[in-house]
Amino acid sequence: MALSETAICAAGFGIVLSIICLVPYLQQNRNWTKNNLVFLPWIESRKEETLDFSRTADQVSVSKYPASWWTDEDLYQLECRAIFSKKWLFVTHASRFQKLGDYRTFEIAGFSFLVILGKDKQLRAFHNVCRHRAYAVTKKECGRSTVLGCRYHGWSYNTQGKLIKAPEFENVPGFDKDMNGLWEVAIEIRQSLLFVNLEAGEPQQRLDLGSTEVLLAKWKISDMKCISDWKFEAAFNWKLLGTLMSDHTHNQISALARMVPYWMRYQQEDTQMLHTTLVRRLASGRILTIKALPKSAKTSMVECSIFSKYPKNPRQLEELKTRIYHDIERLESMQRRVSLGQEPLSSLAPSMTEQDEIDVLLKAHREYERMTGSEIHPAARTQNFTLDGKADDDFCRELENPDSVCGANAKGLLDW
Ligand code: FES
Repeated sequence: MALSETAICAAGFGIVLSIICLVPYLQQNRNWTKNNLVFLPWIESRKEETLDFSRTADQVSVSKYPASWWTDEDLYQLECRAIFSKKWLFVTHASRFQKLGDYRTFEIAGFSFLVILGKDKQLRAFHNVCRHRAYAVTKKECGRSTVLGCRYHGWSYNTQGKLIKAPEFENVPGFDKDMNGLWEVAIEIRQSLLFVNLEAGEPQQRLDLGSTEVLLAKWKISDMKCISDWKFEAAFNWKLLGTLMSDHTHNQISALARMVPYWMRYQQEDTQMLHTTLVRRLASGRILTIKALPKSAKTSMVECSIFSKYPKNPRQLEELKTRIYHDIERLESMQRRVSLGQEPLSSLAPSMTEQDEIDVLLKAHREYERMTGSEIHPAARTQNFTLDGKADDDFCRELENPDSVCGANAKGLLDW
C-alpha cells in the first residue's frame, strides 16, 4: 500500500514537473506550437493575453519618440559623439586571435580600428590610422603579421603600436618615434568577449555588463569559438535592432518559467542586448550575436557570428541564416514605415528600455555641448607631428617619382 502511494506521488510529481518544463518551452517556440500542438489551445490564448497587455502598456512610452528618432542625420551625428565615441562597444570573441600577430579590423560609426595579438599574448586595439598622413594602416579585414606597415610611405609599427620604421624621417631633427605610435584604443575582455572604448585617454566609464555577465558565464561562452560569421548592409536605423527582443526574449519569459531553475530551461532561447549587439543563446546551446553598426541614420552594417564548442551543422546554419534575413527584412520594412510615420507604435515597444537609455545619453551629451558652446568629439585625436610640414611634404613629393622608395610603396609593393 505504502509502495503504491509512493508510486502515485512520484508519478504525480513527474507530471507536474513535466508541465512546468514543457509550458515555457512551448511558449518560446511559438511557431512549432502553432503548427503542431493544436490540442493545447489554452497556451495560445494565454500568449495573446500577454501580447495585448504589452501593447496597451507600451503605447504611452513609445509615443515620445518621433519618426526623426529613427531617421534624422543630425541625431545620428550626435549619437556618434555621445555614444560611439565614448561607450564600451562589443567587438568580437577573443578566440579569433590564436597566433602571434593575428589581427582584425573593425569599423563602427566611421571609426576604423584594429585588434592585434602581441608577442606578450596581450590583445591591443589601435585606431587604423597611420600617424604619418592618416591613411589606413591596413585595408584587410584580417591577417597575421608582427609588423603593421603602412603601404603608402613605409611607416611601420609593431604589435604594441610603437613606430619602428619611418623612412626618411629617422634623421629629421626633432622627430621622435616614441611620439608617433598608433593611437591606442581601450580594450576589455569579459567572458572572452572583447569590448572597446574609443574615447581618447582613459575612458571615463568602466565597463559594467551587470547581470548579463553572469548569464554569459552560465552559457559558457568563454569555452566557445566562432564557427561562422557573415555580414551585409541593410537599410534600417541601428536602434531598431532592439525590437528583435520581442521574439523568444529572455525578458518576456512568463512568471511560471521564471520559477523553473535555469538548468531546466536549457532548451529555451534567451536574448540580451549589449548596446549595439543582440546576443542570443539558441536552443541548440550555440550563441548567436547580431551587431547593427550604424553607417548612417537609415543604414547599418549587420554582422552575425555563431559561437559554439562543436563544429557547425550546415543545414542548421542555413536555417538560421534564413531566419535572420527574415528578421532583418522585417526591420527594413519597419524602417520604411517609420520614415512615413506609418509604423504601429506597439511594434517598436520591445526596444523601449534601450531607447530610453540612449535618450538619456544623448541629452546629457547635448547639455554638455550646450554648456561648452561647441561640439564635443570624445574620440578625436590630435596629430602632434608637424615639423612645419616641411620634411613631410618634401618626402611625399617623391610619390611623383615612380623610382623612389615612396613610389614603390605607392604601387603596393609593401602590402602585407
Ligand atoms: S600615410 Fe602611412 S606612411 Fe605615409
